Amino acid sequence: MSDSIQIGLLGLGTVGRGVYRIITGNGENIKRKIGAGLEIKKILVRDLNRDRGIDLDPGKLTTRIEDILEDPEIKIVVEVMGGIEPTLGYVSAALEKGKSVVTANKDMIATCGKQLFALAEANSADLLFEASVAGGIPIIRPLKQCLAANRITQVIGIINGTTNYMLSKMTGEGSDFEDVLREAQAKGYAEADPGSDIEGYDAARKLAILASIAFNSRIVLDDVYVEGITGITATDIAYAGELNYTIKLLAIAKETDEGIEARVHPTLIPVHHPLAAVNDVYNAIFVTGDAVGDTMFYGRGAGEMPTASAVVADIMDAARDLLRNVPGIISCTCYEEKPVKDMGAVESRYYIRLQVSDRPGVLASIAYAFGDKEVSLASVLQKQTDTVTAEIVLVTHKVREKNMREALEIIKHLSSVKEVSNVIRVEGE
Ligand code: NAP
Ligand code: HSE
Repeated sequence: MSDSIQIGLLGLGTVGRGVYRIITGNGENIKRKIGAGLEIKKILVRDLNRDRGIDLDPGKLTTRIEDILEDPEIKIVVEVMGGIEPTLGYVSAALEKGKSVVTANKDMIATCGKQLFALAEANSADLLFEASVAGGIPIIRPLKQCLAANRITQVIGIINGTTNYMLSKMTGEGSDFEDVLREAQAKGYAEADPGSDIEGYDAARKLAILASIAFNSRIVLDDVYVEGITGITATDIAYAGELNYTIKLLAIAKETDEGIEARVHPTLIPVHHPLAAVNDVYNAIFVTGDAVGDTMFYGRGAGEMPTASAVVADIMDAARDLLRNVPGIISCTCYEEKPVKDMGAVESRYYIRLQVSDRPGVLASIAYAFGDKEVSLASVLQKQTDTVTAEIVLVTHKVREKNMREALEIIKHLSSVKEVSNVIRVEGE
């Protein structure tokens, strides 16, 4: 083995630039920690002429993947280009050639993880993906290693930096949805297609990865119930505040007697709840294990340097395994097959905002419809919106999702109900 381990970097955008900065800037430290230097030999990009804002030998850049895949000196391929195509093909080819792979790509791991882990195992290569969930926060390695002795019962967290940044600004500063989305994009937090952030799919992919590791059973994107934040209005944020709640996009996975529960949706949580204090681009993840009890992981969930911190730590682990001649030693832990719980069976409390005709008996008819489906009301708030319309905000006690959906179907068709303006789950009491 040469003194320096050669790396092929796929992508030099937000995360790739951070990886380059850490490897070139902290080189001496890294070398002392792993016993060899790291050298980025080639970097795959689309545009050779783009100003990257870093001091870089242009000879390292290439648009030809063969320059990395066909180079036997390159032992570690670092994928930070994103997406599934052509990325999956590149990563598969690297693994087939026995190169270890480090990736930040949750889309690829959440949808094609099974086949990639099989390839890594077959070719004695490492496949590491710490940065794919919660940016700079160590969470994959703690789940796989530090908490390995536990039976994990739940993982609950804020795992999308973009939406947390947006909701924090909308709540704290009254910012407009489109304006804060643009800010999050400018800061490099958002995905290439920010729709996957605001519609909840980025968090859902990350939850699929976390749940698979936590419960040792493969959970894919389709197993996760997903709602994003596009329906959250300034009115809901204000009412939530009035009721002493704040709104967060939560990712929730639990192992229950009816199967694995996996869901991502906006959620009202009490203002005194620890997750309510997680603001801006910060992420936080609660993990409960039968031996350890509650643990919480907190840090920056997106952005150039935090994400690169996790990527480079993975590169260092892969390099250590190469130096010890044990690449591929960290294997997939999805060795069980557990059922996924139907969303209708999930229990939650609910916040419901309705526009109704402001006349006698309306509230009673709504309460009757809820009661008929065994939905019990915890609180009711009523505001006059104009001379003939009132806005009603209800918070329920815990109820099965199926009952709530049936009750709403009836309420929506009551002549006195003009609109069901929003329905948001409530957690954390
Ligand atoms: P980005 O800024 O859009 O950078 C993507 C890079 O990949 C660019 O350098 C681009 O080349 C290159 N690239 C894309 N498609 C390519 C292709 N077909 N062939 C060659 N090069 C290609 O993306 P990013 O924000 O760094 O994210 C990268 C990955 O990290 C994604 O999987 C993302 O989900 C994940 N991630 C991002 C963050 C974050 O905070 N941004 C956090 C955690 C995980 P050009 O520059 O020439 O266009
Ligand atoms: N777009 C993602 C986020 C990047 O906002 O959390 C980190 O995975």
